Amino acid sequence: MDQRMDLRTCLSRFGTGVTVVTVDAPDGMHGLTVNAFTSVSLEPALVLVSINRRTRGHDLLQESPFTVNVLGAEQVALARHFAGHRHPELEVRSVRGHLSPRLENPLAWIECRPWRTYEGGDHSIYLGNVLDYGYRSGPGLGFFSGGFITLEPPAETERPFPYDVFELPYDAYEEA
Ligand SMILES: Cc1cc2nc3c(=O)[nH]c(=O)nc-3n(C[C@H](O)[C@H](O)[C@H](O)COP(=O)(O)O)c2cc1C
Repeated sequence: MDQRMDLRTCLSRFGTGVTVVTVDAPDGMHGLTVNAFTSVSLEPALVLVSINRRTRGHDLLQESPFTVNVLGAEQVALARHFAGHRHPELEVRSVRGHLSPRLENPLAWIECRPWRTYEGGDHSIYLGNVLDYGYRSGPGLGFFSGGFITLEPPAETERPFPYDVFELPYDAYEEA
């Protein structure tokens, strides 16, 4: 196996959710399937997506508002459709947000205005400032080891942390 493929296989061991990033295009809504999505900051509220320069979505996202649609487990057909495997019979319903279009009824959606763009080799990293968002309950769609999986929500009793896991321990600010 060549080195590039082997690195991809290594990176595929990091499981992620699956999103479709939606943006206005001259011919209507454009969407592309993206798993390189990360929350970045709460103040200001920032998220990022990393987009291959060779995609159509890459150029449409330059300076444009966009929405990150987090897919539910039952929405795998949308993930395939927006990854280039167009499915002519699939009914794609969209709704209008404040500044960009989004899918109807994703597991969560995060609407962003453009914040900064960074060069990332053959990708561009788009940071978006969160303008509005929404979510519902249900299992999520995951991507792991090169395939789609279902992400089951934890049972109430299996939630191990009775505290905010993102809170810094107070002594993180003290001198060592
Ligand atoms: C599970 C999955 C995750 C993907 N994640 C990304 C990603 O994070 N960034 C990216 O640029 N492309 C990603 N892709 C590939 C794009 O979805 C694909 O290239 C798409 O056809 C681009 O569409 P466009 O050229 O019409 O904009 C992913 C594909 C799949 C199936």
